[in-house]
Amino acid sequence: MNRYALLLVLPWLASCSSEVTQATILDQCGTPATSETLRVMEGLKPHCEGCHAQGTRGYFASVEAFQSLLVSDSRLVKAGSPDDSELVKLLEGRGTGAFKQMPIGQKSYAQLVSEGSATLTVEAVRAWIKGIGVQQRDSRPNPDAPRITRMSADQVQRALYQQLGLGYDDFFVNAKEFGFDMAESRGEDHLPLQSPDAIPSPRQYISGERYHGLGGGSVMNQVSADRTPAPTFALTLTQVSQRWCRRALAKPDNTALFPKGAARTANPADVKATLKRWSLHFLGERFTDAQVDELYTDVFVPLATPTDTEPAYVGACSYFIRHPHWIFY
Ligand code: HEC
Repeated sequence: MNRYALLLVLPWLASCSSEVTQATILDQCGTPATSETLRVMEGLKPHCEGCHAQGTRGYFASVEAFQSLLVSDSRLVKAGSPDDSELVKLLEGRGTGAFKQMPIGQKSYAQLVSEGSATLTVEAVRAWIKGIGVQQRDSRPNPDAPRITRMSADQVQRALYQQLGLGYDDFFVNAKEFGFDMAESRGEDHLPLQSPDAIPSPRQYISGERYHGLGGGSVMNQVSADRTPAPTFALTLTQVSQRWCRRALAKPDNTALFPKGAARTANPADVKATLKRWSLHFLGERFTDAQVDELYTDVFVPLATPTDTEPAYVGACSYFIRHPHWIFY
């Protein structure tokens, strides 16, 4: 396929709503919500959204969520058969799963309707289910959905090496043990970090422990990887970010944090220029002047002393590394 053909195909892949003609792509698209579906959703919403606005049961987060999580899930809505639909059973207080009724509480939805506190009747829900055709779920991932995956231990190490202008040689020297290459730590002060499965593998136990602290897994140590933002991860990252920022700032001729020509002074204008540059450098987003001012006032100033800006620059540098936009992607 030449590159022009690719350009034509890509927009189709990205959207189900445009005039899609290729059957293979159509196959993956979900049935769109009808106006009647929207009406049902709006009717139920006041009684449901408090508990169902996010997560895997976030049916009421949007009409797309309602459509793809509830309407096109045949376990919950059986097109054409209200009696076989779990949704109807839940509204009538005859649910078959973990709960007998929705909403959870004293009264079933049907009772709320008869009391007048809900306006959309169960009859209307039944009629809607009778009328909808077979629904198809969109099997493709939504490219707009926010992804919240945190960096793995390997990614953290790679990103920090690169963004701070550091590398293996700043932390380790090569050594041999029984003829095998080992990474000998230059000193615990530097908080070295190395996967136990890496080659050369760390000679000091603590270098591997720190890697596990960041959630890194190891076949050798029989530790499975942990991608949750656990307290151990936060603690380890805090220590590592501060120590490594300090090391990066102290490293001679290191242009990662201060490229040639960038002034490293206590002058507010210089500091703010650096903070703005770092927002792009670490997070890939350019902080506004207001954000920079806030960071300057809240982080930089309290850490600076009349004779020394180092702690303040370390604090600002590690602030970016502990930023949620750095940790999660
Ligand atoms: C007070 C909180 C609350 C309210 C209000 C509520 N739900 Fe639920 N709902 C839950 C919980 C909790 C579950 C079970 C969650 C789980 O298993 O993860 C659930 C599960 C469900 C399920 C899945 C049932 C299954 O068997 O898989 C459906 C469908 C549902 N709710 C629909 C509704 C609808 C429709 C409304 C409004 C009429 C509603 N809920 C109101 C808390 C609530």
